[in-house]
Amino acid sequence: MSNPNGFVPCIASTWSFSARGNAAAWPALAAGGDPLDAVLEACRVAEEDPAVDSVGFGGLPDAAGRVTLDGCVMRSPAECGSACGLRRHLHPARVARLVMERTPHVMLVGEAADEFADLHGEPSRELVSDAAREAWERWRAAPPTLDAAAAQARDRALRPVDSGDPGAGALFGSHARNETRWHDHDTIGSLAVGADGQLAGACSTSGMPWKVPGRVGDSPIIGHGLYVEPGVGAATATGTGELIMGVCGAFLAVEEMRRGATPLEAARTVVERIGRSYRIEPHHQTAFVVVGPDGTVGAAALRTGFLVAVRTPAGERLEPPGFTLRAD
Ligand code: GLY
Repeated sequence: MSNPNGFVPCIASTWSFSARGNAAAWPALAAGGDPLDAVLEACRVAEEDPAVDSVGFGGLPDAAGRVTLDGCVMRSPAECGSACGLRRHLHPARVARLVMERTPHVMLVGEAADEFADLHGEPSRELVSDAAREAWERWRAAPPTLDAAAAQARDRALRPVDSGDPGAGALFGSHARNETRWHDHDTIGSLAVGADGQLAGACSTSGMPWKVPGRVGDSPIIGHGLYVEPGVGAATATGTGELIMGVCGAFLAVEEMRRGATPLEAARTVVERIGRSYRIEPHHQTAFVVVGPDGTVGAAALRTGFLVAVRTPAGERLEPPGFTLRAD
């Protein structure tokens, strides 16, 4: 389904739960639609799915029991937007697009971002699902452990691991019901290439479960969770935001592509940089998905257990990253 210019439409999104969003976005993208519409559609599906416990409704709350949602969108350095800390609006990436298209700014935060969304017709709603509230209540009731070895073993078992079942949704809830999983979190990052080779990306997350109220991770920060450079490439991140933000992960990946790296080489470079820059703990995971204007997709992860969902004219696939830094 390439066009006379040789571009092949493609959408690639983090984690297997994104396969359903890719599928929803695909018909319009394949028909020549805007890649930004496609990535927002992929985010919408995850945001509305209560089984996905790291994005949208169903996302796990902060330490105070409140769900706050972050998201961003990007077409180019001159066209990007972000919304952080939304407490009443389910679609942070969509609000981020409104910021991009209807203001001279890039990022809005907190209650003012919710008010901005109200003004622009986004429906206001409850974000905390019953399951998320119950999980928070269990976490709040759980006594902290002082046994470092036990905590390490527990954390290793609790980092997000993709079952490969697109219908499963939960990456945390699939583990034992141990509410120490505040360490573990992830994100939908979605990248698309249009039939004209135009690139776009979006991220959406509820952030780290049980986070300190006010904490914002990489996902809504341009250059950290998402970066798009027309004609060069697009990159998105998932996992522990604190590991991504110190290396400007998505920006670094796209810069590597500007220097001639393939998407896989670019993703690998960032993961290796993270491996050198931080003391990696058992609960840490982070992964990068990188797409070139020709629709080539590459992914790399710090650890095993990550999958990327890809949809092209050849069909849909769920694949492990081409490079994984650590086997543990
Ligand atoms: N990667 C999502 C976050 O750290 O909030």
